[in-house]
Formats: sequence, C-alpha cells, structure tokens
Amino acid sequence: MRGRHKSKKHGGALWLLVPLLVLIVLKTNLLPQVARSSIVGSPPSAALSRNEMTGSGDATKDVAAPIVGSSKLTCNFSNHQSNTCAMEGDLRIHGKSATVHVVSASTYQPENSTIKLRPYARKWEDQVMLLVREVTIQSSPPAAGVAAGDTTPLPPECSVQQDVPAVVFSTGGYNRNFFHVMTDVIIPLYLTAHEYGGRVQLLATDYEPKWIAKYKAVLAALSAYPVVDMDSEDTVRCFPAARVGLESHKELGIVPGVSPNGYTMGSFRDFIRSAYSLRRRQAAPVSRSSGRKPRLVLILRRNSRQLKNEADAIAAATEAGFEVVAADPDDVGDLERFSGVVNSCDVLMGVHGAGLANMLFLPDNATVVQIIPWGELKWPCRHSFGDPVAPMGLRYLEYEATAAETTLNETYPRDHAVFTDPLSIHRQGFDKVWNIFINGQHVILDIKRFRGFMDELYQSVTT
Ligand SMILES: *[C@@H]1O[C@H](CO)[C@@H](O)[C@H](O)[C@H]1NC(C)=O
Ligand SMILES: *[C@@H]1O[C@H](CO)[C@@H](O)[C@H](O)[C@H]1NC(C)=O
Ligand SMILES: *[C@@H]1O[C@H](CO)[C@@H](O)[C@H](O)[C@H]1NC(C)=O
Ligand SMILES: *[C@@H]1O[C@H](CO)[C@@H](O)[C@H](O)[C@H]1NC(C)=O
Repeated sequence: MRGRHKSKKHGGALWLLVPLLVLIVLKTNLLPQVARSSIVGSPPSAALSRNEMTGSGDATKDVAAPIVGSSKLTCNFSNHQSNTCAMEGDLRIHGKSATVHVVSASTYQPENSTIKLRPYARKWEDQVMLLVREVTIQSSPPAAGVAAGDTTPLPPECSVQQDVPAVVFSTGGYNRNFFHVMTDVIIPLYLTAHEYGGRVQLLATDYEPKWIAKYKAVLAALSAYPVVDMDSEDTVRCFPAARVGLESHKELGIVPGVSPNGYTMGSFRDFIRSAYSLRRRQAAPVSRSSGRKPRLVLILRRNSRQLKNEADAIAAATEAGFEVVAADPDDVGDLERFSGVVNSCDVLMGVHGAGLANMLFLPDNATVVQIIPWGELKWPCRHSFGDPVAPMGLRYLEYEATAAETTLNETYPRDHAVFTDPLSIHRQGFDKVWNIFINGQHVILDIKRFRGFMDELYQSVTT
C-alpha cells in the first residue's frame, strides 16, 4: 500500500506521487477500544416520541406553532485536499454509527439531508481514503414529525451534553508515517481546532490508541479533553457546534492568507514549540573561534533508501567540524524526547523520507539537507521536503546522489536505462519508478565528494 498523487496540478510528471514515499503499514489493531473519556449522564434511551419532540402533543395547543429551524449546516466539497462540513445548533453525535445528527436544520434540503464524507485530508488518493471510515451527517427538517404520516426518523436523545464545539477527524490513513501524520492530520487539526483555545472536543474515527499516545502532546495542546474514540462509543454526545473533516492546504504547509485565523507555518511552529516545550526559537551561526561545534542530526533509515556507508558519512561530517547526532527509527519514535534533540541542532540531514518531517522541531534559521537518491528524483523530493522548508523559516540544501552513489549497480548493468536514461523509466509509469528508484535502492555516498559538501555546509552555518 502506498500513496500516489493522481493530480497533475503541481507539476507534470507522474511524479506528483511524491510523499508516497513510505510503505504504509496498515492498522493491525482491530479490537474495539474502550472509550477514554468518562461519560456522564444516562445511556441512550429510545428516541423521543414525535409529540415530545415537537411539542405538538401539548394539550393546550390546538395547532403546533411553526417550527423554526435551530441548526445550520454548510459543507465544502470543492477543496482539493479534504471535504469539510461545519454546523451549529442542536448537534447529536453517535460514535458507533459514525453519525452526526443536525437536528431541526434551517438549511435542510431533502436531496442532501444525508451527506457522507471521510474526515481525512488526502481526498485525491482513492486508495488511502478507503482506509478511512465514512461519517454520515444526517439533517432533520425543522418540522420533523409534525406532519401526519411523516416518516422522517427522529434524531436520538442526548446522553451527554457538552458545551464546547466538536471536531471529528480520523486517526486512520497513512497513520504510521510521520510526514503523512503531520501533513494529513496534525497541521489540519491545528488549522481547524486551534482557534477554540483548548475548549473543543476532538472525536476520532479509526481510533488508534498507539497513535493517540504518540501524538499526546499535540492533542493536549489542542484540546483540554481526552480524544473520544468514536468507533466504540454507543453514547449520544450533544454539541452546540461541530466540524467534520479538517481544513488542509498543501504538503507539510499552510498557505498564508487562506486560514481565516491568519495561521501560517510560523504560527504552527510556535504552537509545536509550545506543545513540546522546545526552548530554542532561533539558531544563530556558531562562531568558529568559540570552540563550539554546530550540531547535526542525521536521520537514518532501516528499510528502503538506507545510507549504506553511514559510519563513513558520520566520520566525514565529524571531521568537517560537526557534532553529529545519529538517529535511527527507534530514536525518532519518542516525540517528547526526539523533538528536543532536533531542536538542539543546527542542521537536520537525511535521505529522502518521512523522517525529514522532523524539521518541524528545528529552530528558525536552522538548515535542512535532503539527500536525493539516484534517478531524476529532484522534483518530487523537493515537492515534499524542499518547498516546505523556507516557509518554516529554515534554510534548504540538497545533495543529489550520482550514478556512482547507488546500490542499483548490484541489479542493473551500467549501460542500462536505469543509469543512462532514468527519465525513460519515469515514462514507464509510477510502479517502475517506485520499485526501482524509491523502494529499490540504497545510497552509498562518495565520501570524498560528500566531505567537500560537508565543508561547505560547515562554512555556511558558522562564522
Ligand atoms: C444542499 O443543497 C442545496 C441546493 O441543492 C445547497 O444550496 C446546499 O448548500 C446544500 N447543503 C449542503 C450542506 O451541502
Ligand atoms: C470551499 O473551498 C474552496 C477551495 O479551498 C474555496 O475556494 C471556497 O471559497 C470554499 N467555499 C466556501 C463557501 O467556503
Ligand atoms: C556498486 O557501486 C558501489 C558504489 O560506487 C561500489 O562500492 C560497489 O562495489 C559497486 N558494486 C558492484 C557490484 O559493482
Ligand atoms: C541565519 O543563518 C545565516 C547563515 O548561517 C546567517 O548568515 C544569518 O545571520 C542567520 N540569521 C539569524 C537571524 O541568525
């Protein structure tokens, strides 16, 4: 399973595939999870009778008063990244059936009284969207149940009333990939829920306890309440406002001027620094005469796109003057700790892959170095980890591997198109590119060339 960009919007080649880049581990935890928040109130009881609902059973009234809709619903399905709905009024969410009832909706239209959407911000990737549970938004008309013979189902009765807005999202999708979690969920959650200043109830479909535990610092910074596991909850929670689906703009980014709250990647990074108590806001050039060394964190990969001669690479970086912190996948998983490690560094470097998204934790003016594997991958690599760098207040450099710096020579002769004409491989389709260049090679740095690059890098981050 992997991502593909179907859209040609960002460039030309089939290449817009990009952050595909990491194998997706499907969720394995299919056991129902116990809801984490405590439930007050009674278990759901049978829905109110039509008369109780509308008041038309009041013996003192002969004719029911006209019923004015109390809820409003607006949806936007024209965004490229995600479908979103916002609503206010009398909203009742039943987790287990993934249904949001918009009670007595002034915006009710019979033709769209039932709206379905998958609350995950990668709408254009059909395959991953299938991994995301569909949420139903069910509107009832203002006069539901009043007219004789009206068979409109009545909304369920509230068992828990909350006085804060609800935000419904999914912890499914590419949920083991740090780049995707940041791009598809965390930045969109910030865009959607941060404005409530913590007074917001997050509700997750495809609820994964490990995901919730891993990102607990961010979740706690967004909401004062534990995330509700919608999938297992048979309670009906009622809210005065709700949003289903998350606002999203672009890969690892926020487009300035689009967010009604004026959010930017600068403000997002302030939020992240606060969530993880990161102390360094700004990296200043290190003085060469101070005896202090600039710190470089090297993100190591253990499956595809490994740095085969990583010990030599670390030695070369150390000789160039850096204090090197090597981080393998076990190190990067603990975000509370690793965010602090990255924040203490002046440079983050690694072969193209999700781990580069840890750049979010760097102080402003630090440098990101992307090592691009062989195979004309410059454009797609820049799309995911080059273009997002400058808007974060960081500097970007890349080191593009040559034909002499890949393990592909173990599989293909040097006169093969893989070496002589990589673009012809691109023209054969995405699967070929994926299998050969993305998933089929490791990088072997030419240490002499790499050392020259590191010397220049050292000069650029010191004075
Ligand atoms: C329902 O449909 C009407 C017109 O057909 C449209 O104006 C309205 O925006 C739709 N509502 C939602 C929530 O999509
Ligand atoms: C819906 O989203 C599109 C694309 O982001 C945006 O241009 C448009 O203004 C939005 N429409 C509404 C009614 O908010
Ligand atoms: C492949 O290239 C690497 C790096 O240039 C080199 O170390 C290795 O010996 C080569 N392997 C083969 C089978 O030619
Ligand atoms: C940012 O880094 C560059 C290069 O090291 C340096 O010239 C510049 O002064 C730094 N800016 C700040 C505000 O520290």
